[in-house]
Amino acid sequence: MRNLITKGFLEYIICLLGITIFLIGGTRVSFADKVGDESSKEFSKRYDNSGGAKEDDGEEGVEGGGEGGEGDEGSHNAGRNCLTSGCHSGSGEEHFSIGGTIYTDADGTDAMSGVKIKVIDTNGSIIKLTSDQLGNFYTQKSVSAPFTITVSYQGRKVKMPTKASDGGCNASGCHVAGSAGRIFINTNDLDLSGTVTESSSDGGTSEISYNSDIKSILDAKCISCHQSGGVKSDVPLTTYSEVTNSRLVTPGSADSLLIRKLNKDLSEGTMWNNLNSTSEYDKIKNWIVVYNAQESSSSQGSAGAAISGAKVRLSQYGRIKYRTTTDSTGAFVLGKVKAGEYTLKISKKGYKLYTQTYQMNQSNVASLEITLDKKQ
Ligand code: HEC
Repeated sequence: MRNLITKGFLEYIICLLGITIFLIGGTRVSFADKVGDESSKEFSKRYDNSGGAKEDDGEEGVEGGGEGGEGDEGSHNAGRNCLTSGCHSGSGEEHFSIGGTIYTDADGTDAMSGVKIKVIDTNGSIIKLTSDQLGNFYTQKSVSAPFTITVSYQGRKVKMPTKASDGGCNASGCHVAGSAGRIFINTNDLDLSGTVTESSSDGGTSEISYNSDIKSILDAKCISCHQSGGVKSDVPLTTYSEVTNSRLVTPGSADSLLIRKLNKDLSEGTMWNNLNSTSEYDKIKNWIVVYNAQESSSSQGSAGAAISGAKVRLSQYGRIKYRTTTDSTGAFVLGKVKAGEYTLKISKKGYKLYTQTYQMNQSNVASLEITLDKKQ
């Protein structure tokens, strides 16, 4: 008897449960039919937007460029200034803090997708972006200028030589053809050539001279912008007389414009970012303050005898990436060097080791003229 009651009671409960489950299930199905579709679309849209995140091992949040195509809010207007009124400026939902387009060359011939863009804002926050099919990249994150920007693609890495004061990379006067040119990352590796000669200053003194110390720094870090007819600055820094122009250099004076422009502690020191080396700053400063006065009164000696068989090495993160030896005329060529920052070392028995940081550009790679001092 007790068993029967229990059994009946159980069946009753199970039946009720069944009905309830059926009802709930039915409601859910019809709910999903109507609403589920849209919400899952919304979900996949959001998901797609952060698609690049995993590849990027992002320290901060990552946003890829939009997926493009599909919705009417896809990526569009490649090459135009995103941060202009009526577009992605102002306080609206579609406000961008940084936006731009990256190409294969400065003329903007072809857009490049899959390029990584790393932005460090003035507070040190890092944002990593990936360019989409149209070459566009953008973020809505709140960031503060100036920005340090590096772009990289398949092991090639290029750092913007100066800090960007604004997030609108394609704004007029910035990365448009005719001004700074398009943002691009070149897939052609360029040759780096040069000659190595003996220092003409008799004996290896600790004197700093234009030929043996200063020219190579300026060639490596400055003349890509500073050459006559240069698109970015019309103040050339390619020869001794250009560099020691009285506007730039007052022999013996630490107040020379060339020093002030490189002094990171001065607001005027906007060129520090291109130099970015305290030892090179000290060299240039000492050259002007201590040595240049003597140099300009004595004749600028021409470079000495060619040094053959000198070892030339370019290394990155402590590893030698390119190496060669100078020929009988002291000339060398390092073939197809990828853009990026390197340490250049040149050595030869009987001479002091020559070492400097070298920024390999994607264009305007000047031939280096290096002099080695004899060991005493
Ligand atoms: C990315 C391009 C670029 C590079 C690289 C660069 N400069 Fe400049 N430089 C400029 C521009 C643009 C100006 C003018 C705006 C300014 O003064 O900030 C300028 C101005 C100067 C001036 C002031 C010229 C004058 O007559 O007012 C000096 C001096 C100078 N740069 C030195 C250097 C030195 C030294 C280096 C290398 C360590 C260097 N620059 C690297 C673009 C560059």
